[in-house]
Amino acid sequence: MTIHDTGGWTATDDVILRIDDVAKSYGPVKALRGVTLDIRRGTIHGLLGENGAGKSTLVGVISGQRTPTSGRIVMNGRPLERVDVKAMEEAGVFLVTQEPMIIDNMTAAENLMLGIWPVRNGLVDWKALRADAARMLDGSGIDPAALAGRLDAVARRKLNILRAMFSGGTVIILDEPTAALTVADRRQLFDFMRRLKAEGVTFIFISHYNDEILEICDAVSVLRDGSLAGGSEDVRAMTSEQLSELVLGRGLTLFQRARRDHAGKAPAISLREVRGRHLALSALDIAPGEIVGFTGLPGAGAKELARAIFGLYPARGRLTMNGVETGLPGDPRMALDAGIAFLSDDRRRDGAVGQMSIGQNIALSSLPSRARFGFIDRAAEAAVVSRYFGAMGVKSPGPEYAVDTLSGGNQQKVCLGRVLATDPRLLIVDEPTRGIDVGVKQDVLRIIDALSNTGVAVIIVSTDTDELVRAVDRVCVFGQGDIKETLTGEDITVERLRASVQA
Ligand SMILES: Nc1ncnc2c1ncn2[C@@H]1O[C@H](COP(=O)(O)OP(=O)(O)OP(=O)(O)O)[C@@H](O)[C@H]1O
Ligand SMILES: [Mg+2]
Repeated sequence: MTIHDTGGWTATDDVILRIDDVAKSYGPVKALRGVTLDIRRGTIHGLLGENGAGKSTLVGVISGQRTPTSGRIVMNGRPLERVDVKAMEEAGVFLVTQEPMIIDNMTAAENLMLGIWPVRNGLVDWKALRADAARMLDGSGIDPAALAGRLDAVARRKLNILRAMFSGGTVIILDEPTAALTVADRRQLFDFMRRLKAEGVTFIFISHYNDEILEICDAVSVLRDGSLAGGSEDVRAMTSEQLSELVLGRGLTLFQRARRDHAGKAPAISLREVRGRHLALSALDIAPGEIVGFTGLPGAGAKELARAIFGLYPARGRLTMNGVETGLPGDPRMALDAGIAFLSDDRRRDGAVGQMSIGQNIALSSLPSRARFGFIDRAAEAAVVSRYFGAMGVKSPGPEYAVDTLSGGNQQKVCLGRVLATDPRLLIVDEPTRGIDVGVKQDVLRIIDALSNTGVAVIIVSTDTDELVRAVDRVCVFGQGDIKETLTGEDITVERLRASVQA
């Protein structure tokens, strides 16, 4: 059987994939409770739901990566006997996960060709293959000859998506593919999806962003607590509010910070003459209680400066905190000791420790400062854990469960809880609500807002313009390592921000 075998379907049969009464339990946790769903051929089908609703579990089952407790998958009208990764890839179903499966010491083009090897006279036609791969990479901004290990996070993600498409997938599942992409990258990905859709490829698309679902999807299904809560075959007739209501089961109240003007206050932190690769900052002061947004294109300096302040990025410069001048911290330990906390956007690398419990993860960074005579103060630990487990609304039976058992968005809540638990004087968060559902996103912005009201200075590094508009007092737009424009008050709008970033 070739991957393009139609398996006997007829053109009138427009359902390519039927999910039939699928249930999945992890011990006592019912992740899916009998979900029945039809995916129509040649459509882009959105999958929405709160953190922990069961989206990743469902597409894990469809792609053969997770075994359902009960139920069946029907492809082109035929129930599948075996549902494992190999069988599903043969049937043309590919899951593009968040974790790029990429071989670092092969080129970008070679990575695309992994496992496909088209054959002529029993031999791999390398030349044709290389040409095809190069054509597919054309316009992606990725050099076909570049070693994959040298590519940045965004390029690796794109490469991962391209590979599923190149592998002849007829149903391609994207689990939060846009998380690390810029506006321009996103546009490019969507154009690419539309092109493939016109050729008959079917997509299942998971996202927490209503605007993305409204822009790209034909149909949408919403999971709530492991069950199908609703959906629509005509997404274009829906509004963002209706989508949120389907996801949450209630209306959504969007958070908006009451912006404040901090001009003239004695700064909590001052930076002068910060130099490094992609960094040429002349001056920046942040007042106590102020929330400043950092944004810009990749490599423009926003991320680099944030990491440099936490000692994670090599740079030289002067830093003054509460009147005391020091250099930039040499490493994160020094930064933490100085009262600086940091949430990385790379939660896989700097994020939660999967095998440890949720509670241990929350207490991880604040414990050393709470230790007494070298012993961990258990009572203090328990207090911190229960406070942030509750405040972040982590969806789990209890803080003693391993972080590995949490959904993606809930792992992020744990990371954020851990950073907040350090009681910082300066809090730096990089993409704090990426991967977090619309309801919890408002909660996270509220928590940061409340923290700032206690006098903590906050830097939010974000490419989410909506988040910047709702959460900050001032936005620094970076270009060539320095602040190229500062927006305050009424000037902080989605349009102004987009224009300034691209300018
Ligand atoms: N390996 C596992 N062991 C135990 N429980 C798990 C495991 N994987 C997932 N779960 C649980 O199953 C439920 C559904 O998780 P899933 O990852 O499917 O959610 P999701 O909708 O993808 O959420 P998110 O938007 O946060 O990614 C959650 O309650 C989660 O804690
Ligand atoms: Mg998920």
